[in-house]
Amino acid sequence: MTNTLTIAVSKGRIFKDALPLLAGAGIVPVDDPETSRKLILDTTRDDVKLVLIRASDVPTYVDYGAADIGIAGKDVLMEYEGDGLYELLDLKIACCKLMVAGPEGSTTDSARLRIATKYVNSAKRYFADQGKQAELIKLYGSMELAPLVGLADHIVDVVDTGNTLRANGLVPLEHIADISSRLIVNKASMKMKHAAVKLFVDNVAEAVAQRNPE
Ligand code: ATP
Ligand code: PRP
Repeated sequence: MTNTLTIAVSKGRIFKDALPLLAGAGIVPVDDPETSRKLILDTTRDDVKLVLIRASDVPTYVDYGAADIGIAGKDVLMEYEGDGLYELLDLKIACCKLMVAGPEGSTTDSARLRIATKYVNSAKRYFADQGKQAELIKLYGSMELAPLVGLADHIVDVVDTGNTLRANGLVPLEHIADISSRLIVNKASMKMKHAAVKLFVDNVAEAVAQRNPE
């Protein structure tokens, strides 16, 4: 059906922050994702379904057309290598910073850096741009542990309050990028479902503007 929209979103902080924006487009999930085990949620609009997936899988679903639209962190998009999607709108939710962090007083000036991160591509680009050679160690979570047990000298991770770093005796050292969640759209859906996608994007943009007055 050319006018049915499937929207991919991850549970947790993005879903919670996206709810009021989706409501602005007249979309309210029928089931509560925190209590339901369903992965496809019906909404108050017959023509819109939400699919619940892991944050880092959102670009993949959208790129391959399994979802028309997705909501993904810029950190995840910076890592993603596919080219089947457009990034259309900054939703200004789930805001944080991608940073290099490490023990207080440490620097990234050493000849051979060992960096633990889930953001291997972004970290590689960042250090290469500075002419620094870095050995990247791929992790899937709890990055803050790596310098504490000698797995790496530094980490690259998202930082918001800094509480997680502080609790583990680490400090933010270098800013790589400001992060927020973005609305992404499959390139083919943009063509084939143009009217429905445009209406949705316009409604969400309006909701973002209302929540973030100049
Ligand atoms: P996955 O399950 O795929 O490993 P994840 O555990 O990083 O992903 P979430 O913790 O829900 O998933 O984070 C989703 C997005 O929220 C991240 O991609 C990032 O853009 C943003 N984010 C992550 N941590 C924070 C934070 N502490 N404060 C604000 N935004 C954050
Ligand atoms: C994220 C990130 C940091 C923390 C930073 O983890 O990986 O550990 O938030 O936020 P802070 O600066 O406010 O402490 P999250 O809470 O999402 O846990 P997870 O990714 O390990 O599930």
